[in-house]
Amino acid sequence: MEVQDFDHPEVELCPHGPMLLRGARTVVDEHGTVHPVERPVVAVCRCEKSSRMPWCDGTHKVIPRSGRS
Ligand code: FES
Repeated sequence: MEVQDFDHPEVELCPHGPMLLRGARTVVDEHGTVHPVERPVVAVCRCEKSSRMPWCDGTHKVIPRSGRS
């Protein structure tokens, strides 16, 4: 039986904000594009309004909650 080496990143969902990933190596977006993770912790946008998708750029802080996807 082959043993696979899985990463075990930690995931934290910030209320009304991004998803924090600790220990991830890559993030694959909805188009299948692989984004290398080059920092110990990265913030992935969940509001879909960031200008730096898939990364959070803080835009979620200024959009009304009713305008969020
Ligand atoms: S969650 Fe921060 S910009 Fe979308």
